[in-house]
Amino acid sequence: MTISRLSRIALGASAFAALAFAPVAGSAKPARDHQSWWKSAVIYEIYPRSFQDSNGDGIGDLNGVTQRLDYLQKLGVDAIWLTPFFPSPNADFGYDVADYTGVAPEYGTMQDWDRLTREARKRGIRVLVDFVLNHSSDQHPWFKESRSSRTNPKRDWYVWRDPAPDGGPPTNWQSIFGGSTWEYDKATHQYYYHIFLPQQPDVNWANPGLKRAMYDVMRFWLRHGASGFRLDATPYLFEDPNWPNDPEVKSGRPVWLKPYNSGLPAGNAILRDMRRIVDKAPGDAVLLGESSTATIEDLRKVYGAKSDEINLPMNFLYGNLTKLDAPTFKKQIDDAQMKLDGLPPVFFFSSHDHSRQWTSFGDGVHNDAIARVTSAMTLTLRGTALLYYGEEIGMADLPKEELQHFPLGPKRKVADNRDPERSPMQWTGDASGGFTTGAPWLPVASAARTVNVAAQIRDPASMYAWYARLLQLRRTNAALRDGAYLPLESGNPDVVAYARIDAEGRGVLVLLNMSAAPQSLSISGWRGRLPQDASVLLASPATDKIDLQAPALEPYGVQLVQFTSRR
Ligand code: NOJ
Ligand code: CA
Repeated sequence: MTISRLSRIALGASAFAALAFAPVAGSAKPARDHQSWWKSAVIYEIYPRSFQDSNGDGIGDLNGVTQRLDYLQKLGVDAIWLTPFFPSPNADFGYDVADYTGVAPEYGTMQDWDRLTREARKRGIRVLVDFVLNHSSDQHPWFKESRSSRTNPKRDWYVWRDPAPDGGPPTNWQSIFGGSTWEYDKATHQYYYHIFLPQQPDVNWANPGLKRAMYDVMRFWLRHGASGFRLDATPYLFEDPNWPNDPEVKSGRPVWLKPYNSGLPAGNAILRDMRRIVDKAPGDAVLLGESSTATIEDLRKVYGAKSDEINLPMNFLYGNLTKLDAPTFKKQIDDAQMKLDGLPPVFFFSSHDHSRQWTSFGDGVHNDAIARVTSAMTLTLRGTALLYYGEEIGMADLPKEELQHFPLGPKRKVADNRDPERSPMQWTGDASGGFTTGAPWLPVASAARTVNVAAQIRDPASMYAWYARLLQLRRTNAALRDGAYLPLESGNPDVVAYARIDAEGRGVLVLLNMSAAPQSLSISGWRGRLPQDASVLLASPATDKIDLQAPALEPYGVQLVQFTSRR
């Protein structure tokens, strides 16, 4: 079925009526065939530096992650994704890799890694490795060799160009972190290319030797228990070989996702190779892609024309939203559910690069209630959901005042404007949040005194309990686990409504009030009569009352309602 056909079916209101309770466009197949765990998984992102310190040096480590596996199992996650723990000068906190097959001493050893994956497997948790494939550190031996002379065999493993006729950079392109993408090398009188920091030279994927070495890295981690990879910065693997100047460079427009620096077709061939590598590995390994796109049509392409590239491209069209606006979400959700040919969308809000959703969507008054709206949405949609450590207890960004006077100290080389979302996990209410017995590398938020795992884990009304219940429902409720997506109209511009329906016509209706006022609604899109046997599965604020003829929601209210269709 083509994308345009799907969108026509999906977006016509009369088509909704005709299709309700039958599998709907874009979701004709159940979300998961029980062979492919990743199609409806919950993947929990861990920033290892900030999760749990096991040896008192103030830096989280692999053994710390292992210590917390029981917690993650109880929460109910299917997999964890660890951001880089490889040897690195930390110019970009591990995203400048100096050894792709090593563990940085501050995070532990290979033995610690092997133990982590073994212990995770025992608990039914898979582990994904962050593969930084677009660039290495300038301290990687490959780059040191490459820059040593123009004739070094590894010269072509990176992207080197002669200066422009005036001696300046080969093009006027700007890097994502600011400044030119070109760095002059005095010794060899050429420039090397970097879409991120100068300390992160782009590798040259056109070079067969580099390609082989990178594929070997993947095989190494798969042999060492990884269940796949989170692929960093996938749009940027190739550049336009004509090296055109950018006429808009001075306009202040963003420099990411330009036609000359991203999305070149040669990159698709690399991703197909990578997919073959993970497909050959035992255990249904997967590629989760940091694959931002400007449109849903471009996102569809990232899965591969034959769905043979990235299994799970992260949906940044959803993940980059920071304003709770029902029509915007309705569109993004419908697009993701119905314009991706039934492939699993990947929903998330928070990450080590994004402000935490408790903060970004919060209005300063209703943040907890709003966090329940955003999490209920992410976790009840058909597809895969990413959680970011601490999200499940309603962790906020570290306030600027708490960061301001914090000395960088010997453990850190540079401050980063993403520090606020990377503060240590809040396990307990003591001064170090249960994160470390030493001095933490980043401050533990003062909010840890009240917002922490220990306080929430036994409280049935806590944010932790909310998330744990949502995860449990995803596993145990057939409609939420495998069901088709049914777009509904709420009849109210502040309310998002949809349903998930299993093969027997049992379903879950999801109602989300995105406003600070109570809202009443009138749902359309059902086929025939409304279901009569509705009961509340989960609600915020808690209630067991539901009247499907005239539903009502509290400010920032959420209702998950179980029903059986009447055919
Ligand atoms: C995306 C990563 O998520 C981000 O943290 C990093 O700075 C860039 N890629 C460069 O690797
Ligand atoms: Ca440590």
